[in-house]
Amino acid sequence: MLVKGKNILVTGAAGFIGSNLTDELLKLGANVIGIDNLYNGRLDNLEWALKNKNFRFYKTDIRDFNYVLEISKEIDIIYHQAAFTSVPQSILMPDSCNNVNINGTLNILNIARKNDIDKLIFASSSSVYGNISTLPLDEDMKLKPISPYGVSKLTCEAYMEVFRLIYGLRTNILRYFNVYGPRQRDSPYSGVIAIWLGRIIRDEDLIIFGDGKNSRDFTYVKDIIQANLLVAEKDFSGQLFNIGAGCPINLTELANLMLKITNKQNLKIIYTDPRPGDISNSYADISKAKESLNFKPKYNQESGLKDYLEWYKRKNTINI
Ligand code: UD1
Repeated sequence: MLVKGKNILVTGAAGFIGSNLTDELLKLGANVIGIDNLYNGRLDNLEWALKNKNFRFYKTDIRDFNYVLEISKEIDIIYHQAAFTSVPQSILMPDSCNNVNINGTLNILNIARKNDIDKLIFASSSSVYGNISTLPLDEDMKLKPISPYGVSKLTCEAYMEVFRLIYGLRTNILRYFNVYGPRQRDSPYSGVIAIWLGRIIRDEDLIIFGDGKNSRDFTYVKDIIQANLLVAEKDFSGQLFNIGAGCPINLTELANLMLKITNKQNLKIIYTDPRPGDISNSYADISKAKESLNFKPKYNQESGLKDYLEWYKRKNTINI
């Protein structure tokens, strides 16, 4: 199914990934309804989308069943991106994480069922794997999340499958691996790349939790959008795909790369205590997405970071 002319609901539309997805869907000729409670999302992210006649935005919460049910009556596809996204914050507030991610997702599933929606695409996370020492991580491995956030995403995956089996809903799951890029917030509970870029711009040293050997498969947001568009094209119902760059890097290497690209090698890397709930290593086996979806990541860490930096410079008129 191509997205042109389709009616699409994006939850979390004012957020980092949701807003990038919304813009791309509009460029491809979809009619998009975006919802966001603006807790983490920001209307600035929708500056371009809000000028588009095929876009409507509603400030609401995914847990508001009646409201979301009403505005999504004519929807063909739901991209469910809204979430409580921070691993450390989920450790401080497990109930909130559970409430937003699990109850919110259950609401969206019920809405999709009641409104007979053709397809629901769910943004899951590599955090469902937990600490597995055999790398890369493939979709068939046993899952053992080690944070409330990971548990919440795994529960949502299970609900997706149950709604498919029992109610015949066409559900698809994308397990994102550490997404970064334009519009990711620089806040204490954001992803490490956005935090470090903010620190570099303010001439502050970079802080690593642990010994710097933790590694992540950082994935540029444009590649995440590519995967979301591909999964809409055909019926992949009931399938789940790892979506990553397929090239992991450890935190010390990442810090050095960011300092090099920004010409800020005068800044220091400071090592501090490890962060509870962090998995050690994460590296996506993306062969299934390559074969079935024809997914081809276009960015590695260096090219993704450079593209991100260019965007940052245009947006913030910074000089690095
Ligand atoms: C991130 C996402 C999560 C997503 C998961 C997998 C965010 C906030 N979290 O979690 O939603 O599901 O990837 O796709 O986007 N670190 C430092 N210094 C810092 C900040 C972090 O050393 O200043 C370290 C952390 O301890 C961790 C690593 O960087 O070892 C990555 O942390 P983070 O960017 O928060 O990502 P995840 O916890 O992996």
